[in-house]
Amino acid sequence: MTFSRITGVGGYLPEKVLTNHELEAMVDTSDQWIRARTGIAKRHIALEGETTCDLALPAAQQAIEAAGIDKHDIDLIVLATTTADQIFPSTACLLQQRLDIHGCPAFDVQAVCTGFVYAMGVVDNFIRAGSSKCALVVGAETFSRIIDWNDRDTSVLFGDGAGALVLQASDEPGIISTHLHADGAYANLLHVPQGVSKGYDLVQEGGAYVEMKGNEVFKMAVRTLGRIVDETLEANQLEKSDIDWLIPHQANIRIIQATARKLNMSMDQVVVTVDEHGNTSAASVPLALDTAIRDGRIKRGEILLMEAFGGGFTWGSVLIKY
Ligand code: ACO
Repeated sequence: MTFSRITGVGGYLPEKVLTNHELEAMVDTSDQWIRARTGIAKRHIALEGETTCDLALPAAQQAIEAAGIDKHDIDLIVLATTTADQIFPSTACLLQQRLDIHGCPAFDVQAVCTGFVYAMGVVDNFIRAGSSKCALVVGAETFSRIIDWNDRDTSVLFGDGAGALVLQASDEPGIISTHLHADGAYANLLHVPQGVSKGYDLVQEGGAYVEMKGNEVFKMAVRTLGRIVDETLEANQLEKSDIDWLIPHQANIRIIQATARKLNMSMDQVVVTVDEHGNTSAASVPLALDTAIRDGRIKRGEILLMEAFGGGFTWGSVLIKY
């Protein structure tokens, strides 16, 4: 049996940091409110002109180096993003060019905050089917570009960044299972209502910004992530105690704590970066993974549960033996 095994991870955050105190000068909010309601203290923001691909490149290079592979061994690039550099080519193709790799398939996946989990599911199927032996999977966002910085409901939540990993075919696990879901019925609770096909002039005139009914999204996220945890454990006949690490999407510390409670998990077994990064959408799960592998918390052989919930709604999980 063929499994997809993580052989290298990488992450990159733009240099510019925006603190809660700086946000106090921009919108009617307070450091105290943001920390208490979200757990966020600061976030990184791309400089003017710095693109999603600019963030993806160093994360990908780090992952390739950590995997100890020749970049020309990469036979598939899948990049999760909501904030592509251009309408086309895909950011995955732009990244391929910047990495000076040629010929392998490269495409973007768009599932907002669940994007990286979706990308893992897609790549795992390629590897299991024998269509890829060495894949580069990236989650990268410049979410700050689709934030209305006058809107306190959203501007305090998001940040920019990129995470990447190399997945290679192996006889040893590896990804154990992936679980992907969506329900478009909830599109209006969390969306950017403008887009190319609706009339690009509207985007140019009024901007295209995230709109969110935060409270309703919050309740759905907690409920849905609870269900995905059950689904993942049941599918693999595992007990809650079999999970060594929870690597959740980093939207809000209260959502993360609720999922940890559902797993009877101490917060010591949960990788938390939301305080430092904010919500980096598709980049948040790989950035959290990179952080905890690099600082030595996550060790080979441990069982990791990644989960995410985002616009669509989309949600999903990846169970991995690292
Ligand atoms: N600063 C200060 N006060 C604020 C702010 C702010 N930035 N925002 C709202 N408030 C006020 C409200 O006006 C309200 O005041 P009131 O009680 O006087 O009416 C009070 O704070 C509480 O507002 P709620 O909206 O009920 O606050 P809540 O506890 O729900 O927190 C939050 C809001 C942080 C947005 C939360 O709902 C949340 O995290 N939602 C989920 C986000 C998420 O997970 N998104 C999915 C992934 S993102 C993606 O896919 C793109």
